[in-house]
Parts: sequence; structure tokens; C-alpha cells
Amino acid sequence: MPLLAVTRDLSPAFEQCQLTHLARQPIDLARARAQHAAYQRCLASLGCQVERLPAGDSLPDCVFVEDCAIVLDEIAVLTRPGAPSRRLEVPAVEAALRPYRPAVHIAAPATIDGGDVLRIGRTLYVGLSTRTTGLAIEQLEGLVGPFGYQVVAVEVRACLHLKSAVTEVAPNLLLVNPAWTGDWVRAFDRLEVDPDEPFAANALRVGDALVYPCAFPGTRARLEARGLDVRPVDVSELAKAEGAVTCCSLVFEAS
Ligand code: GLY
Repeated sequence: MPLLAVTRDLSPAFEQCQLTHLARQPIDLARARAQHAAYQRCLASLGCQVERLPAGDSLPDCVFVEDCAIVLDEIAVLTRPGAPSRRLEVPAVEAALRPYRPAVHIAAPATIDGGDVLRIGRTLYVGLSTRTTGLAIEQLEGLVGPFGYQVVAVEVRACLHLKSAVTEVAPNLLLVNPAWTGDWVRAFDRLEVDPDEPFAANALRVGDALVYPCAFPGTRARLEARGLDVRPVDVSELAKAEGAVTCCSLVFEAS
């Protein structure tokens, strides 16, 4: 079945992005666009058909499509992002997903960002971050429960999203920053980030490969020592906007 990667071009307003844990610093938009293009080429090299959505001129964070939807095998859950400036990003992502999945929605006043949802098998771990509310987690449970998914609310500490703190890098193997995750991760085989690289837990798994920022050589060495196939990408300008590699695409089987 073809693998689709939905991405969205960078907004000209990218520099006005939301920031929660980072100080604002100048962003080189041309360089950010070049890095985003290389990221998309990396996805294509891994077999993804990349579907690029045009940017929203007044949607600074629209490149971070992951936050707008949780794509499961059966349905797409359209989110209601926690930052009000990001809510207008959702309709374009919904239109792109509709040919592939029935769409269901998180309703106000609940809020949730896709970056807070980590799927491991039939369980969705959902981070109670500054963007995601308990009410949204309850709604998500109601939407996905009928398809056999379990939803588990988990703590997120000192970072933007759950997937800033932990991602799955191989079946049941988690890459974690232990300072930002709760005890629930102990139920899994774990690889910890290099202590000098706190932002290094976000890896995008595509098939057996990992799209991974080149900014974290210490953690990359740990991944490769476990035999993982790491495909480095330079996302330094995107990282200034508090974005990471999972945020920039929605990858799923185009059934
Ligand atoms: N700049 C990404 C976010 O805060 O949502």
C-alpha cells in the first residue's frame, strides 16, 4: 500500500511562530525552506509519496501539520490545537486527509495538539501538556475506543509536546529524555538521549528508517549502536520555531 506524507509549505509569517519554551531568535526563511525541501526529499527517498499543501500566508506555524490531525488506520481525528493562532490550520489538513480517511473532530472547548499523541500498537499515549486538555483526551477516547484503541493520559514535563520527550524508534523501543517523561516509559525497552542533547528524543520512523536531526550526534551514535537506520536531516531553522521532525508531516498508508 502506498505510503503518503502530507506536508505543508512554510508560511511567509514563519518568524511569528508560537514559542513556549524557547526564546525567539532570527530565522533565515530561505534556509528554513531549503531544509524543509530536503526533509521532503528524505521522505520521498524512503518511499513516501509527498503531498505538499500550500502555506497559509497568515498561519505562521502551518508547516507543523502533525498538530492538526491524528491519523489512524480507520479514521482521521482532526484536532483543535491548543494555541488559538493555530486553529485555522486544520481545515486545509482535513481537506487533504478526507480522500483517505473518514474525518472526526475534537470539539470546543477541548484542545489537543497531534504532537502530544504517541501511538504504540493499539494504545495512544497522550501528553497532558500546555496544549492538550483532559477533556480532549476524554473525547479522543470516545472517538477511537470503538476501533479498539486504548487511550492513556501521561505527564509531560518542561517541553512543548509529548513527542518532544519520547518517540518510538523501533517496535516497542522508545527514545526518551527521562527528565521530560513520566514513569510509564519504564514499561518499554528504552534508549536515553545523550545528556548533552535534551531535544534529541524526537525521531520520525518511516518503515525501518529514522528521519533524524543532524544536530544530535551523540544520540545518533546511540541509535546506530542499536542497529537503527538513521537518515540525518538538517532542521536547525525549523527547530528555532520549536518544531521537530515528526511535526512536519503526517505519514500514513494511503488506503
Ligand atoms: N511553534 C510550534 C508551536 O508552538 O506550536
